[in-house]
Amino acid sequence: FEQNLTYSVPDDEKKDFVPVTLEVASTEYKSYMHAVHGMIYCFGECILWDRYKQSGQILMQMRCDGMVGFPGGLMDQDYDEPIVDCLNREMAEEINLDLEKYKFLQSDYLLSHVNHRKKLVTHFYIHQVTEVEIREIEFSTLKAKDWGHETFGTIRVPLFAMDDGFRGFPVFLANRFAGNARDQLLQGIVKCGLLSQKECDVYVKSFEEYIK
Ligand code: GTP
Ligand code: MN
Ligand code: MN
Ligand code: MN
Ligand code: MN
Ligand code: MN
Repeated sequence: FEQNLTYSVPDDEKKDFVPVTLEVASTEYKSYMHAVHGMIYCFGECILWDRYKQSGQILMQMRCDGMVGFPGGLMDQDYDEPIVDCLNREMAEEINLDLEKYKFLQSDYLLSHVNHRKKLVTHFYIHQVTEVEIREIEFSTLKAKDWGHETFGTIRVPLFAMDDGFRGFPVFLANRFAGNARDQLLQGIVKCGLLSQKECDVYVKSFEEYIK
């Protein structure tokens, strides 16, 4: 049969998430749904095939809906579950995170966004571990309660670009992301210093070029 491949990127990726302070999110938008997700990362130089240098690692996951996102989830609306408690609960459910060792703290909080169309607030935390620890965390994810149901596995974000300028991080950015996870990833990367704003801008430009 004849294949007729005419792909175009869906246009529902509008920037409809706007930044909001934690204060406003938890007062004015208290009645909205709230979700909280977390980025686990480490520093540690990793060179692929003696060529492509990465300054560290970031964990994301393949969700069962085919989108890429961070581990985390929806806050319980029925009682005032503290945001960071919800995050840790979801971390245990989705990636079997050992909370004795690796629990997220309120000091790991980075930013929040509100989506008025979806009546959804998203909160985002970033938490640094060591190279050895991130490996231990990755190994134990297969034993997570939600593995194979909600989440199809933890993945590393490629933090480099190959010689063509696309393969690597720019191509990764062309995945479908849940909510505003792509923005969270980009802001988290710069905030934790895994990439400079300048480096990030170059990758984003390549990504935009790639999806044209
Ligand atoms: P259930 O346990 O099945 O109810 O799911 P959950 O509690 O784990 O919720 P989920 O992680 O799917 O997050 C809830 C909503 O937040 C989703 O409908 C997405 O739109 C959005 N979302 C999911 N992952 C991310 C993410 O990494 N970042 C952001 N900003 N939003 C996300
Ligand atoms: Mn969940
Ligand atoms: Mn989830
Ligand atoms: Mn949940
Ligand atoms: Mn921390
Ligand atoms: Mn669940």
